[in-house]
Amino acid sequence: MPLERTLVLLKPDAVARRLVGDILARFDRKGLKFVGLKLIQVTPELSRAHYAEHVNKPFYPQLESFITSGPVVAVALEGPDAIAVVRGMMGPTNGRSAAPGTIRGDFGVSRQMNLVHGSDGPEAATRELELYFQPHELVDGKSPLTDWLYAADEA
Ligand code: RTP
Ligand code: MG
Repeated sequence: MPLERTLVLLKPDAVARRLVGDILARFDRKGLKFVGLKLIQVTPELSRAHYAEHVNKPFYPQLESFITSGPVVAVALEGPDAIAVVRGMMGPTNGRSAAPGTIRGDFGVSRQMNLVHGSDGPEAATRELELYFQPHELVDGKSPLTDWLYAADEA
């Protein structure tokens, strides 16, 4: 059960709908550790780099237009199996099929405006964290709360 870092974005719809506090609170209460946090405007260039796997898909122009339409909150989270834990908390892509209790299931009905992004694997997490954060923007160090969140042999 590795200690992982993952990139989360609160997309422009989450910021515009004033859902930032609610969504960040879910990750905080879950026991994931914030190691990076900032509000940024995604440029078309950053969008193409981030969504490289989708650039040639028919929906890409719409996706770029959406993700660059307003500020996003970029978050680097750390925890045991953080990548899969975050994906589970987000729910599947389309809010209409996402279960209640997930972020997408609780707050949306859209496939595109689905509020959050989360890295989908270790390679993506490394690549995306480098795209959104410089090394000095990530905070290291053990939190005193960690001993209350999981046992030493769990990460
Ligand atoms: P994300 O990468 O943002 O975490 O979302 P995901 O893994 O659940 O979904 P993915 O397949 O990677 O798609 C990336 C984002 O593109 C938009 N999308 N539009 N019109 C469409 O068919 C379509 N499909 C995907 C969504 O905003 C999705 O989150
Ligand atoms: Mg994806």
